[in-house]
Amino acid sequence: MVKIGVLISGNGSNLQAIIDGIDKGLIKGKIEIIISNNKDAYGLVRGKNSNIKSLFMDPKGYDPISYDRKLLYELKKSKVDLVVLAGYLKILSKEFIDQYKNRIINIHPSLIPSFCGKGYYGDRVHKAVLDYGVKYTGATAHFVDEGTDTGPIILQEIVAVDDGDTVKTLKEKVLQAEHKILVQAVKLFCDSKISIEERIVRIIDKE
Ligand code: GAR
Repeated sequence: MVKIGVLISGNGSNLQAIIDGIDKGLIKGKIEIIISNNKDAYGLVRGKNSNIKSLFMDPKGYDPISYDRKLLYELKKSKVDLVVLAGYLKILSKEFIDQYKNRIINIHPSLIPSFCGKGYYGDRVHKAVLDYGVKYTGATAHFVDEGTDTGPIILQEIVAVDDGDTVKTLKEKVLQAEHKILVQAVKLFCDSKISIEERIVRIIDKE
């Protein structure tokens, strides 16, 4: 059973998708701990409702490196094997990433390498997509490396941008795709069905 730690900053709908995936027996893993950098994150309530240890860790008074050391301490204490960034809107330090190399999965609300990197998070991504006028966007589940949104891509799903879409409607459609591929990516990891060569991810025994 893979021990999972989930980091969040907000609503936690992606976290909920993982909780549901575990409850349905799809994901052979267990969420040991949820940590939020935002006190008001609704994801903390979702965690508590599912009887999962859910912590708010206040970033105030910490530089990014010491904050991440505190995060690492909590995750290691819970013996976490896989870290999932489910709407965690803070950049992780190199030290953190080194400790969990190829064991951190992030979900991003666009088709990487478009509309990603510094400054592209949450609603800003959908606003940029609409302003640019692309006809398709989507979601990407990827491993986290030292860059911002540059790590090996595990799964992607396409979402059409329709006339009349707003940030709100686009976000809803992309969230559906995010939930689907994030659950699938975590499932594949827990089933040891992912291999990585350089930056190319291959799914072993694709059904
Ligand atoms: C999601 O759309 C996720 O992809 C995005 O934040 C939202 C969190 O929603 N993450 C990023 O933009 C990271 N660069 P949720 O709290 O309902 O899961």
